[in-house]
Amino acid sequence: MESSKKIILTGDRPTGRLHVGHYVGSLKRRVELQNSGDFDKTFIMIADAQALTDNADNPEKVRENIIEVALDYLSCGLDPAKSTLFIQSQIAELTELTFYYMNLVTVSRLQRNPTVKSEIQMRNFEASIPVGFFTYPISQASDITAFKATHVPVGEDQLPMIEQTREIVRRFNSIYDDVLVEPEAMIPSNKSCLRLPGTDGKAKMSKSLGNCIYLSDTPDDVKKKIMGMYTDPNHLRVEDPGQVEGNSVFTYLDAFCNEHSFEDFLPEYNNLDELKEHYSRGGLGDVKVKKFLNNVLQAELEPIRNRRKEFEKDIPYVYEVLKKGSDAAREVAAKTLSEVKGAMRINYFDDIELINSQIERFK
Ligand code: TRP
Repeated sequence: MESSKKIILTGDRPTGRLHVGHYVGSLKRRVELQNSGDFDKTFIMIADAQALTDNADNPEKVRENIIEVALDYLSCGLDPAKSTLFIQSQIAELTELTFYYMNLVTVSRLQRNPTVKSEIQMRNFEASIPVGFFTYPISQASDITAFKATHVPVGEDQLPMIEQTREIVRRFNSIYDDVLVEPEAMIPSNKSCLRLPGTDGKAKMSKSLGNCIYLSDTPDDVKKKIMGMYTDPNHLRVEDPGQVEGNSVFTYLDAFCNEHSFEDFLPEYNNLDELKEHYSRGGLGDVKVKKFLNNVLQAELEPIRNRRKEFEKDIPYVYEVLKKGSDAAREVAAKTLSEVKGAMRINYFDDIELINSQIERFK
């Protein structure tokens, strides 16, 4: 039965290459979900139209980053044979859905959206918010509902968007007909993956702060960034007791260590708890911990980097994947749009009952 299908939809704005925060926050999980066999369909969207809502004057940036994000996707293991990779702007149906959903949302509801609020502040939009930016949560609801997504793997910052979508779905279904599906968000259970700090210890990785480690960084770049990472500013001598809380190096280890990390790279400890305990006690230097993190991270990134190099040799293939994916996605969205218009009674030409009733009326 269609209603019991499990469908994933998620995506990213193409405003830069993806970094390790994206990776632990959502990308890695998506690949696992894609490969789990638990889902009937997986849709991964490059949200260029959403990126334009706050980059209207810089379309070139968005255009260039579409291929960067696609390369990051493929190199992380998103597989076009299992997942539909597509570009948002190529699905006109999404814009049409947005126009109808706009009638179901109030201005004050959008003003209360915490993600929109903080983004408005970050971008100094207070005095002049573009309407398209202000309404992007509605467009995001279209992205999700057009594919009848049941599961949306995202970072924690996207929770208000999913909540907004659920409200639109409930309102639509109660006013018109049971057409749309209420999605649920999937966020990482590992606290350190929820929001990986920047290499400078700031709360968030962001390109403008220059504190990101990118999936496509060279091994040298990664190493330099790790060796320069923020730790405990009061941990001056090796003998000093060190602080683990708020120490980015340990947050990264929390996010990236797996069951083999110690055996492979630091066999004198059994696990991260032992390492943390030694650091807190004193007698463990930052350099040693950073070298360990470097080994752990390089091991994770190396296969990704190698796959990227292969895909970079065949850019036409990458565009072909996106084109095929967009064609497939458009078909699905068109079907939902047609159901939406039917439920809203704006399907004049394929509704024989409507025509017949009008014939009667004018007799
Ligand atoms: N807002 C998301 C981000 O900034 C990108 C996005 C657009 C998205 N549409 C979506 C994510 C639909 C999940 C589902 O990263």
